[in-house]
Amino acid sequence: MAPAPSFRGHQWTYNPVRESCLLLLLVMSNLLMCQGNVCPSCCPDVFDIPLESLTDLFVNASRLSHDMRNLSTMMFNEFDEKYVQGKQSYISVTKSCHTNSLHAPDEREKALQMNNEDLSKWILMLLYSWKRPLYHLFTDLRSMKEASDAIQSSARENEKKVQELQELIERQFSQIIFPVRQKMREAHITWSGLPSLVSSNEDFRHSAFYNLFQCLSRDSYKVDMYTKILACRIRNMC
Ligand SMILES: *[C@@H]1O[C@H](CO)[C@@H](O)[C@H](O)[C@H]1NC(C)=O
Ligand SMILES: *[C@@H]1O[C@H](CO)[C@@H](O)[C@H](O)[C@H]1NC(C)=O
Repeated sequence: MAPAPSFRGHQWTYNPVRESCLLLLLVMSNLLMCQGNVCPSCCPDVFDIPLESLTDLFVNASRLSHDMRNLSTMMFNEFDEKYVQGKQSYISVTKSCHTNSLHAPDEREKALQMNNEDLSKWILMLLYSWKRPLYHLFTDLRSMKEASDAIQSSARENEKKVQELQELIERQFSQIIFPVRQKMREAHITWSGLPSLVSSNEDFRHSAFYNLFQCLSRDSYKVDMYTKILACRIRNMC
């Protein structure tokens, strides 16, 4: 994009009144609360916190999304080293992920064109989508040899990060929870990969695990990228 995109062009557009409120907040750039006679009753949900806290929130969110991405990459590498490298022919790579129908952009260039509301919704949808598979890795699947101790402990840690990040976003932007849940229902985002992961056919099972870790890595990358785009917009540093 030619001029540095300002936060003004990427507001959390829920209604025009809130937009002008946010703009006011940014212009005044201090700890002004969105209340009193400066901005009467305009921003009860999203911006009823000082700008500094929003910055704080995204510093924390970026740390969590970074950890999620790191843990997901480690899980993928761990499996890849043990079961895939040098055995390529047994793995069928499908690239079909249960989150594909969300159409969340892969590339930073594309994501940069999305507004804050859409990015925050995708973050939440991807987090909701991965809670269950991560949980299964250290519960129902823990007796599978593919779910090694290292993978289980990363999955456990990862699930914690996902939960924390989810709570952070939900607490601050509670009005997107309902539309997000609705969109997931409409797009039929449910994970049903468990039977393939416990299949008695080893090649089939390994392909399923590989696919799972590959999708998780890809989606963690997206969550991290979107979170960091939001963080830099808030600090006006994009
Ligand atoms: C960010 O994390 C710090 C340290 O963990 C915590 O004290 C602070 O309350 C968090 N801020 C927000 C807005 O979540
Ligand atoms: C993840 O973090 C650990 C510990 O900070 C680090 O040693 C490792 O290289 C990181 N892995 C990836 C894939 O980023």
